[in-house]
Amino acid sequence: MFDGIAVHQRLCLGALYLLAAGVALTSETRWPCPQPCRCNTELLEVNCSHGQLSTVPNDLAKEAKLLNVTHNIIKTLVHQQFQTLTQLLEMDLSDNLLAVVEVGTFLGLQSLLTLRLARNQLKIIPVGAFAGLPNLQLLDISSNEILLFLDFTFRDLAALQCIKAADNDLVFISHQAFTGLTSLQELHLDGGNLTAVPTEALSQLSVLRSLHFHQLGLTALPNYSFRHLVHLKELVISHCPWLETLSGNSLFGLNLTSFTIRHCNLSAVPYIPLHHLVYLVYLDLSFNPITYIHGNLLGDLLRLQELHLVGGSLLRIGIGAFRGLTHFKLLNVSRNLLTTLEAGAFQSVDTLKTLGLNNNPLACDCRLLWVVRRRLYLDFGGHSPTCATSVQLQGWNFLDLSEVEQPGLLTCRQPRIINRKPQEVKVDQGHTVVFYCISDGDPLPFVNWLDPQLRPLSPIGRIRALSNGSLEVRYAQPQDSGTYLCVASNAAGNDSLPVSLHVRAFPSSSKNPFHLKGWFAFPSASPGVNGNQKLPFDVKTLVMAATIGFLSFFGSVSVCFIFIFFWSKSKGQIKHTATIAYVPRSAMSSSNRGTGNYMETSRFTMKLI
Ligand SMILES: *[C@@H]1O[C@H](CO)[C@@H](O)[C@H](O)[C@H]1NC(C)=O
Ligand SMILES: *[C@@H]1O[C@H](CO)[C@@H](O)[C@H](O)[C@H]1NC(C)=O
Ligand SMILES: *[C@@H]1O[C@H](CO)[C@@H](O)[C@H](O)[C@H]1NC(C)=O
Ligand SMILES: *[C@@H]1O[C@H](CO)[C@@H](O)[C@H](O)[C@H]1NC(C)=O
Ligand SMILES: *[C@@H]1O[C@H](CO)[C@@H](O)[C@H](O)[C@H]1NC(C)=O
Ligand SMILES: *[C@@H]1O[C@H](CO)[C@@H](O)[C@H](O)[C@H]1NC(C)=O
Ligand SMILES: *[C@@H]1O[C@H](CO)[C@@H](O)[C@H](O)[C@H]1NC(C)=O
Ligand SMILES: *[C@@H]1O[C@H](CO)[C@@H](O)[C@H](O)[C@H]1NC(C)=O
Repeated sequence: MFDGIAVHQRLCLGALYLLAAGVALTSETRWPCPQPCRCNTELLEVNCSHGQLSTVPNDLAKEAKLLNVTHNIIKTLVHQQFQTLTQLLEMDLSDNLLAVVEVGTFLGLQSLLTLRLARNQLKIIPVGAFAGLPNLQLLDISSNEILLFLDFTFRDLAALQCIKAADNDLVFISHQAFTGLTSLQELHLDGGNLTAVPTEALSQLSVLRSLHFHQLGLTALPNYSFRHLVHLKELVISHCPWLETLSGNSLFGLNLTSFTIRHCNLSAVPYIPLHHLVYLVYLDLSFNPITYIHGNLLGDLLRLQELHLVGGSLLRIGIGAFRGLTHFKLLNVSRNLLTTLEAGAFQSVDTLKTLGLNNNPLACDCRLLWVVRRRLYLDFGGHSPTCATSVQLQGWNFLDLSEVEQPGLLTCRQPRIINRKPQEVKVDQGHTVVFYCISDGDPLPFVNWLDPQLRPLSPIGRIRALSNGSLEVRYAQPQDSGTYLCVASNAAGNDSLPVSLHVRAFPSSSKNPFHLKGWFAFPSASPGVNGNQKLPFDVKTLVMAATIGFLSFFGSVSVCFIFIFFWSKSKGQIKHTATIAYVPRSAMSSSNRGTGNYMETSRFTMKLI
């Protein structure tokens, strides 16, 4: 009963108080509002911005929900400085001269959701500075001079979802620095002065979804850098002028949907590190000196929708570069060195919705006809591509041309091989032969050489396609004989020219039984061409050789090997092959018959046990 009256009285008092508060609210006078702050009692906001304050005023209204103390000259925050502000939701102390934040400064701010300390002069954050902030969701400490994060710096912030710490001087992040951040989803760091990826520290962040390195000072991204971040969806690394490579397993363990690595020094698309990211949707490699996107190497990125490679050094996007990417809808390669972009690069140009191709030295010919045809379906981001190389179409804009004009203007000329005179060459074994294949066409044709089995020849090896279009056969062997084909092709078609080579074997004779070069080359000859070729020795001489020459030869060689074997075992040496030069005895005896020229010293390479 007594209690009831007391409660009643209290309710009445409460009502009176509310009434008074209401009056105060409308008149906006009763709220304590220290000079030079401005208080908005409706929004429960205290704005002390630009107030020349050197300390935070301590007679602030307890009811305040928002406190803005930006652009002052505060240097220090002391223990329990804000303990009365239990209702405060947001506090902004950015743009001051803060160098010291004492342990327990924020004790009592039990409702605080957002704390901003950006653009101050903090060098170190003592462990315990962030105690008493159980509900904090966003912490902004960017643009300070913080050098390191100590163990347990953030341990009391179990509700924290986002840390912004870009633009600091971090040189070290301790292994336990992020312990206790059990809700952290987004982390912005500055790695400009870090000497390693803080893999251990990051592994504490079990629910992290988004990680941004605003700078990175490394030259290579090591294997397993992010191995425990299984929930990470977005990784952004930018401004890494020294970063040249991503190791093969650097992104191991990640299942990203978005990956950005821009303003770095990558000279190639990191195909291998990326290939396991089958859920990747967004890839940004802009502002890297990448020169090629090769054909058929991105096919594993099944779900890729967007590729941004703005401001690179792209010279060519290969045919089939985006093959297999059935969801691909945005390509932005503006500000590169591309002369063309062929429809064959895409799985299908029908899925493509946005194309950034401006600021490239484009050659307007039939290869870009598809862009003109699809120009009404494509979003060029307000900058449609223009022609750069053709005099006739210089500066011409892809949106200018009417449907009728196209066919005559964007044309290609089929390749034509100019030197069509038959090239039939007969040479002796061991000579070097060059075949010519000079072609023209628009665009300039690409020259391929095919061997007699119609397999393409590469620019390396004994028989190679030179970069100037010629074919070179060095130290011709009889099995090289046959018809080679030069194929010059461009977007408009192809032209081909057969040339033939006949290599005469060395005159074979029974007086020349040990032509070891020919003998050892024989197993590699392709039977299809040279199956019926006469062997450079006959059976009788072989038997003779085996019995007379080789037995004694192998005898002495075996002694050598046994010696080398024991010697290498005793020295624990790792070399397992030995090359031995020798001159067969019978060769010396036959040299006076004029065949000595061919009897050079020969070599064996043998594997040691
Ligand atoms: C706080 O005051 C500053 C300076 O008077 C003003 O620019 C700013 O807009 C104010 N902030 C809010 C949230 O009212
Ligand atoms: C961090 O790196 C910047 C340049 O990237 C340099 O100017 C600065 O002095 C470095 N800071 C420390 C603490 O090493
Ligand atoms: C970028 O890489 C190239 C070699 O790929 C190297 O020559 C150059 O010095 C690098 N740039 C920087 C800033 O390290
Ligand atoms: C990284 O992993 C790849 C693939 O396993 C391996 O080839 C490479 O040598 C490793 N690199 C380093 C620096 O350990
Ligand atoms: C990878 O991420 C995708 C979507 O982001 C998700 O559907 C898939 O289950 C994840 N895979 C693994 C192995 O976590
Ligand atoms: C390509 O990227 C550049 C730079 O980010 C941007 O300005 C442009 O609008 C983009 N183009 C398209 C077609 O999205
Ligand atoms: C191509 O280069 C090779 C070797 O450098 C030379 O022998 C040949 O004459 C050149 N071909 C043409 C067409 O200039
Ligand atoms: C050359 O063009 C013809 C059709 O004109 C085509 O069938 C053939 O496959 C092409 N050859 C090469 C090597 O591209």
